[in-house]
Amino acid sequence: MPVPKAELHIHIEGTLEPELAFALAARNGAELPFDSVAQLRDAYRFEDLQSFLDLYYRLTDVLRTEQDFAELAEAYLARAGAEGVRHAEIFFDPQAHTGRGVPFSTVIEGLSKGLHDSAQRYGISTGLILCFLRDQSAESAMETLRAAEPYLDRIIAVGLDSAEVGHPPAKFAAVYQRARELGLRAVAHAGEEGPPHYVAEALDVLRVERIDHGIRVLEDPALVERLVRERIPLTVCPFSNVRLRVVDQLADHPLRRMLELGLVATVNSDDPAYFGGYVHENFDGVRDALGLSADQLRTLARNSFEAAFLDAPTRTRYLEELAAYQF
Ligand code: HPA
Ligand code: ZN
Repeated sequence: MPVPKAELHIHIEGTLEPELAFALAARNGAELPFDSVAQLRDAYRFEDLQSFLDLYYRLTDVLRTEQDFAELAEAYLARAGAEGVRHAEIFFDPQAHTGRGVPFSTVIEGLSKGLHDSAQRYGISTGLILCFLRDQSAESAMETLRAAEPYLDRIIAVGLDSAEVGHPPAKFAAVYQRARELGLRAVAHAGEEGPPHYVAEALDVLRVERIDHGIRVLEDPALVERLVRERIPLTVCPFSNVRLRVVDQLADHPLRRMLELGLVATVNSDDPAYFGGYVHENFDGVRDALGLSADQLRTLARNSFEAAFLDAPTRTRYLEELAAYQF
């Protein structure tokens, strides 16, 4: 039985498996620039974040109806449930859809339908995190937030993703301010490909509560000390870091060092359809490649529940289940 855990860094569009992409393309009459599932899988070799994003955005074209988004979410939940995920905070990228003519309402209604009853059907509590594409304008982000206003009861937080370098967090200061006024929590991708000072800027200017990725903080010891002192969680994605060439191979991944430094690190899958595994494969991968102890694995799972946007009784229930788990 896999260890109970929360998944806090998962892009729902990044769970689109090639088989589902082809099925949806056929149903919707969408063109895919690949002849077969095998040929598409073969294209999953990336140079960097941008080369991945190019394919990721290209494939979103098959997602067109509420039903498509509902099926995407359900397929993820079925996988996640089997992998010991008890709670998932799920990113979605509305601008990747509204930009090609799919209304915000279609995206959110479809995802909501897929997540509805997830606790009963899959044993997973869920929340949605609306991500802004940082390589688009701040005005476009603000417009997206406005489109979300009728649906705030379905959204727990805002996030920031897409091409990082050259798009510092401060660009979105006003949008995050507005999100906070609307009662949303805040996270941001920072320090994946971008420099460590983007992490500090996300904390100071956007006032985020967690950092997504954040592995480049290791280049700045004073920043590491701050994150340890303030117990800022980092949602680390080991397979993603290898596939996007942020680290050379899993055996070189700094996760173990991060734990030893006292950082509140968690393990997540990012875009599992593209990066070779869901969250449990990431856990097994780092355990084997880095020789993590049972105590370190327990810390990673505990951190995931502590870093989640959960109410106190639910968090306690998950932590008690984890405490009873035998590695
Ligand atoms: N980084 C930035 N943007 C993304 C990612 C990522 O890992 N996955 C999907 N959008
Ligand atoms: Zn991500």
